[in-house]
Amino acid sequence: MSRPITLQILRYNPQNAASRPRLQSYTLDKADGMTLFIALNEIREHQDATLQFDFVCRAGICGSCAMMVNGRPRLACRTLVNELPDTVVLAPLPFFELIGDLSVNTGKWMRGMSERLQTWLHAREELPDLRRIEEKMEPEEAEAVYEMDRCIECGCCVAACGTAQMRQDFVGAVGFGKIARFRLDPRDTRTDGDYYELIGDDSGVFGCMSLLACHDVCPKSLPLQTQIAFLRRKMVSQALQPAVAQTAN
Ligand code: SF4
Ligand code: F3S
Ligand code: FES
Repeated sequence: MSRPITLQILRYNPQNAASRPRLQSYTLDKADGMTLFIALNEIREHQDATLQFDFVCRAGICGSCAMMVNGRPRLACRTLVNELPDTVVLAPLPFFELIGDLSVNTGKWMRGMSERLQTWLHAREELPDLRRIEEKMEPEEAEAVYEMDRCIECGCCVAACGTAQMRQDFVGAVGFGKIARFRLDPRDTRTDGDYYELIGDDSGVFGCMSLLACHDVCPKSLPLQTQIAFLRRKMVSQALQPAVAQTAN
């Protein structure tokens, strides 16, 4: 026998001056294999065509369907309603610009973060020979780079992070993950000194309070805890370098 689920959805349209944030309830029957994404589509199709939420791939790849599910950031397309209680509160990810209801503009923030941290390969030559992008890499190195490349920029780690809620310029675990990815890449020429310039302050590693919610909520299970701890150690030793050099003189 199918059981009903009630979704209480935070509705708000910042584009409409008359709109006020409110919780709106929708009830539908749970079905085997039904994800939150499917449930939201059913609501939009049969109950309320005005409901706003994002999706592209439906397969946990594009990162666009992240939202707060009973206070925890999750991907709607990878969350089965059968694993949820009978009443669920859905809200948009905090921190990011709200478009409306459950839809937020993660792309705008991700682009700014990527430009600031220069999250692209800094090859040896000004104009790299594209054939050398295929340059040979040790399997362990390739595996480590690939591991960090699995980030889908969903924003869950930033939405769960206490530091990010306090400062908008914090690069978040997604930013640390990008830096870790290029540090691991033997084709990238940047030094720890270069990375220190990018993340060696309170909007970078020294703002991170090791809360580790980012690690707990990452839907791709990236090794964020290990990478953040490693970067912190590296950046601390980088910060101490002038003092060490002075002592030696
Ligand atoms: Fe999402 Fe994980 Fe990437 Fe953060 S690190 S944006 S939680 S995939
Ligand atoms: Fe935030 Fe993760 Fe650091 S939750 S404070 S980025 S360990
Ligand atoms: Fe792409 Fe959910 S729709 S990750």
